[in-house]
Amino acid sequence: MDSARYSSVAVVLHWAIAILILCQIAGGFYMHNLPNTSPLKFDLYQLHKSFGLSILVLSLVRLGWRLGHRPPALPSAMAAWEKLAARAAHWGFYVLMIAAPLVGWAIVSVSPTDIPTKYFGFIPIPHLPLARGESAEEFFEEVHELLAYGILGLLALHVGAALKHRFFNKDHVFQSMSPSRFAQWAGVGGVIGALMMGAALYGLAPPLNANSGAAGVRAGAGETNWQVAYDQSTLKFIGEEKGRRFEGEFRNFHAEIIFFPDDLAASSIEVAVSTGSAATGDELRNTILPGEEWFDVKAHPEATFTSGSIRQTGDGAYEADGVLTIKGFEKDITLAFTLENDGDRAVAIGGADLIRTQFGLGTAASWLEEEEVQLGVRVEFEVHATRAD
Ligand code: HEM
Ligand code: HEM
Repeated sequence: MDSARYSSVAVVLHWAIAILILCQIAGGFYMHNLPNTSPLKFDLYQLHKSFGLSILVLSLVRLGWRLGHRPPALPSAMAAWEKLAARAAHWGFYVLMIAAPLVGWAIVSVSPTDIPTKYFGFIPIPHLPLARGESAEEFFEEVHELLAYGILGLLALHVGAALKHRFFNKDHVFQSMSPSRFAQWAGVGGVIGALMMGAALYGLAPPLNANSGAAGVRAGAGETNWQVAYDQSTLKFIGEEKGRRFEGEFRNFHAEIIFFPDDLAASSIEVAVSTGSAATGDELRNTILPGEEWFDVKAHPEATFTSGSIRQTGDGAYEADGVLTIKGFEKDITLAFTLENDGDRAVAIGGADLIRTQFGLGTAASWLEEEEVQLGVRVEFEVHATRAD
């Protein structure tokens, strides 16, 4: 009755999902095989989760559309078993397109490392209510990988069949799913847009990623209006190893602080931390920290924080965006702190949550096993200062 083509909604969804899934599978294997020392790895996992969840939503929309619309009839020349095989393969795809991302979601939900999932870095996504555990994580990883191979296997049959229709049977089946001229251009535009977005997210576009701004320059050589009382101030890091919390301290750091509570635009914070001064309550840990695997003190004696903009978030509460550099890895972070200030003396208390592998800290496989050192590390400071201008 109707035309021999799929509706444009079905065609656009088919090709958008096909392209996304192929990139997702290639990206999945690529990120999985990256060495843990790669600073890209964490970001790629985050992107994989976001694109994967997008595929889940698109696939559900597509399934909904499909249930409400009849596909074009298959050519009457096809044998009954061929029609049955075609429909079975298509329903197989729907199952895999939905199961693969759900199982991916299950992996991150049961993973003992408990890394939050934020959709493209912005929208927090809850994890599925499943019990955490290493064996459950391994199980879902295995299933996730098998589902990806399942998609590739079915795709081989699917493309083979599509080409057979196109070149041997010469029927309408291939054309029924071919994009219109408009959709082709939209697809090319979409791919270019996605590549540009990916490049920006991966930090390949420094102008989009740069954060330093004028503040860093202004706070240069010794310029400061608050003098830090180092004997009263502390800079700590808190982590978890084998399920136990540990604390360490940087005994030696230097801060140049220009802070005007009523002129935040003219305020700035520069901190240099001597990585060799890190100490914990544990002898063994103290000997390991300066090594190449962790702070690599010889090559990178200093870690630095340079603020960009500082804003007030409440009564006596502030946030400073800035760049933290450890081992040469630069990342934008936000320090949240409260400030008690009686005019001449001030106490700032605050901190930030970091993912240590983003700074190349402890990236050998042995440190990444779930029962070893958690990826999330909290940095906390209490800085006492007196006004110096
Ligand atoms: C991972 C990639 C792909 C997935 C998941 C996928 C999935 C699907 C599904 C589920 C259908 C059935 C639509 C329905 O009736 O609701 C379909 C139809 C179709 N696909 Fe794909 N596809 C993929 C890649 C491709 C490629 C690369 C080609 C071309 C070489 C292709 C050509 C076709 C054609 C011609 C049809 C219509 C078949 C018919 O009416 O029986 N697909 N695809
Ligand atoms: C259609 C959607 C998806 C496809 C086709 C896909 C495909 C893949 C592939 C091929 C791998 C590499 C497997 C390996 O080498 O072991 C992988 C790994 C992974 N995927 Fe997905 N994925 C999808 C969606 C998701 C989603 C939505 C999430 C989480 C929200 C996710 C989380 C993960 C994780 C955590 C890994 C790493 C597992 C490991 O390191 O063994 N995936 N994915």
